[in-house]
Amino acid sequence: MRRLRRTPELRSIVRENMLSVEDFIVPLFAVPGSGIKRDIETLPGNYHLSVDALVEEAKEIRDLGIKAVLLFGIPRQKSENADESYSPDGTTQQAIEAVKKQVPGLIVIGDICLCEYTPHGHCGIMENGYLQNDKSLEIIAKIAASHAAAGADMVAPSAMLDGQIQTIRSSLDTKGFVTTAIMAYSVKYSSCLFNPFFKHGTKSVVSFGDKKTHQMDYFNADEAMREIALDVGEGADIIMVKPGLFYLDILRRAKNEYPMPLAVYNVSGEYAMLHAAVAKGIFDLKTILMETMACFKRAGADLIISYGAKEAARFLSEGGS
Ligand code: PBG
Ligand code: ZN
Repeated sequence: MRRLRRTPELRSIVRENMLSVEDFIVPLFAVPGSGIKRDIETLPGNYHLSVDALVEEAKEIRDLGIKAVLLFGIPRQKSENADESYSPDGTTQQAIEAVKKQVPGLIVIGDICLCEYTPHGHCGIMENGYLQNDKSLEIIAKIAASHAAAGADMVAPSAMLDGQIQTIRSSLDTKGFVTTAIMAYSVKYSSCLFNPFFKHGTKSVVSFGDKKTHQMDYFNADEAMREIALDVGEGADIIMVKPGLFYLDILRRAKNEYPMPLAVYNVSGEYAMLHAAVAKGIFDLKTILMETMACFKRAGADLIISYGAKEAARFLSEGGS
């Protein structure tokens, strides 16, 4: 076995998987205001950005060769009915429009959920302490249409509600947005790995309860395949597994069972752990980040959503792999 491992060139010609800059999607956080670029403390290299600053960040991302960004918006005002989530002049809608106009060549994906917009931080309308599926879907349909109207190339519903793909597809189609694609967060586990995201990223920590009544139980794998089957049947264009690193088995199974574009979300907690370990001197950033990315590819990911995508793109252009 060692003959083909002897030199970098020999290893490179027998390598089974490749990483390229087209694999990456960068999450971005839009905030109200202007001239704002604030560090997100647990996610080094990631920022809260007002729309003007977000456009500059998006240009930098495009100039690295990255093809897509995933936008999250933080509203001016949270409310029980999450009204701002579908406002034509909401933070996310403004960010989508500005990037589409000012950063040609970059694909814009709008994340769709209610948790950034509700005071309790749950992913939909709450009644009697229970997340109301179909009432929340009505809002989700409006958010999807508002993102498409702002120019989004794709929407990515992350709430793990039943029937959300079908609801979004028909909302988009009836309004004429037939070309807007859907990247479905098909398999999203109820995971502590999201903590940095809602604690520091979107500031939407739940004020009571948890998300276990809609996000998946991490003991289950067959159920993940059922989730994907439903989303595919409802019209998903791209499917996703989230989180990434603890769920590579699910990623591989999804790739084997569904011959379609597959994304993985290398979530906030994974990135925060990696950086915390780098800060302690346990690992070198480039080495561990590129191993992480390579292993997502090996497990079957076509697309990798990561807070480390910019760094990884830079490392790739330096000739790292
Ligand atoms: C909102 C949403 C979450 C993430 C992406 N969209 C958090 C959650 O549902 O609790 C997590 C992303 C990350 O941790 O990087 N629905
Ligand atoms: Zn949510």
